[in-house]
Amino acid sequence: MSLSNKDILHAVLNNDASEETKLQFHYIEKATGYVDELKKELGRTPTACVVTFGCQMNARDSEKLMGILAKIGYEIVESEDADFVIYNTCTVRDNADQRVFGRLGYLSGIKKKKPHMKIALCGCMMQEESSIEKIKKSYRHVDLIFGTHNIFKFAELLCTVFESDRMIIDIWKDTDKIVEDLPIIRKYPFKSGINIMFGCNNFCTYCIVPYVRGRERSRSPKDIIREIEYLASDGVKEIMLLGQNVNSYGKGLPEDEAMSFAELLSEVCKVDGIKRVRFMTSHPKDLSDDLIKVIAENEKVARHIHLPLQSGSDEILKKMNRHYTKESYLKLVDKIKAQIPDVSITTDIIVGFPGETDSDVDETIDVVKKAQFDNAFTFIYSKRTGTPAASMEQVPESVSKPNFDRLLKVVQETAKERASRFTGRVENVLVEEINEHDPSLLTGRMSNNTLVHFPGDSSLIGEFVSVKLLECHGFYYTGEKI
Ligand code: SAH
Ligand code: SF4
Ligand code: F3S
Repeated sequence: MSLSNKDILHAVLNNDASEETKLQFHYIEKATGYVDELKKELGRTPTACVVTFGCQMNARDSEKLMGILAKIGYEIVESEDADFVIYNTCTVRDNADQRVFGRLGYLSGIKKKKPHMKIALCGCMMQEESSIEKIKKSYRHVDLIFGTHNIFKFAELLCTVFESDRMIIDIWKDTDKIVEDLPIIRKYPFKSGINIMFGCNNFCTYCIVPYVRGRERSRSPKDIIREIEYLASDGVKEIMLLGQNVNSYGKGLPEDEAMSFAELLSEVCKVDGIKRVRFMTSHPKDLSDDLIKVIAENEKVARHIHLPLQSGSDEILKKMNRHYTKESYLKLVDKIKAQIPDVSITTDIIVGFPGETDSDVDETIDVVKKAQFDNAFTFIYSKRTGTPAASMEQVPESVSKPNFDRLLKVVQETAKERASRFTGRVENVLVEEINEHDPSLLTGRMSNNTLVHFPGDSSLIGEFVSVKLLECHGFYYTGEKI
């Protein structure tokens, strides 16, 4: 992947930028000098690789890191055999942590052959002291570590790395800062994620996110709309509004900017050039009637709601601190389906939460059958140090594993049946890329988030086309352009 200057967002400093933004532009300039020197030394443009380990918010942060790296003179590449490699980590489950440590070992091999190489780590895992201790002890080849709250300081931290041979560690416990207008690169020219809020205040008892992402902060509506207007003018057609719980957007905004998520969504739909609007994630406890109405009345809003269930057992939901019941969740699903025909509902489910019995899982399976999800992401509970659930009585794998398998079977059966309901219809599809396995096919996304593969050439990438859905293959369709 090679990126032109056009792909860099807000790369020019606005006159009304904040002091912090101005300061960071000063460091961008300084770092550009260092990269220039490196370029002379190497006799070629140095390369940088950003690896995303986590969710959509993590991916959006990676685009911010790439924006800075490109702005200071690196060529962005996908291979980790680069001059600068940064891992943007996730710690939501233990296997995410393990993947990072595994890959770090592999990177040390590359660095031995390339001593000028720099390795950096950032993201959610770095907000945990135990990870930092482990890296300090066993991964001495890392040059820079920072966390989720000070990512806006990346250019400044890079300068420090260029000026020092030590391992630089800068982790903040929390922040109330939102720094706007720094360079960003988009992975796709035609679609983009947009942060509307940061952090989480829900403290579901299994979840590490509120500890590593800090308190909930909403971005100002005018900054959000300004960014979307810019993106639309730069060719973006589909956007995804990002937050851990978008339904609580607006809390804590100054009075003159007060706005609910439903109001924000409706405003966003008014931006010319934006054809489709998605959002992630909706907490069932806060999904308002107003929001359902805005979705129903606005063609631009995608017919897809990701509504994490986590469990169908009232007792477990209570212990998880989720603030809804099996009955209220199912009622909500019915209400959404009644008011938004054709909507797809997807979900997340955890199996093996402390104290969960076979009959609790029966309740979850019952919800899966009744709610008829289009897709469900199922996870085995992973104990996260520091969360309330970590000190509850844990469930042995001999109980959780068979329950997980039992649930997965039902999820797959119901989702397959449910997803096939569009067969024969013509859908508006945003073409995203050439099919990974068959270059004669294109891959596009329907409003309800389902993928469809159909014959076509690369000139259609980034366009909306009408596709007839011929056959459903579980979670995707094959079709033909009409
Ligand atoms: N903010 C989003 C989800 C963020 S994490 C929400 O509230 O829905 C994404 C998913 O990871 C969660 O929905 C949950 O199903 C899963 N998850 C979070 N913590 C987990 C843990 N400790 N073990 C297993 N799965 C977990
Ligand atoms: Fe985690 Fe719950 Fe916040 Fe989602 S809402 S990020 S699951 S604490
Ligand atoms: Fe992972 Fe952090 Fe997202 S823990 S799921 S990258 S908010």
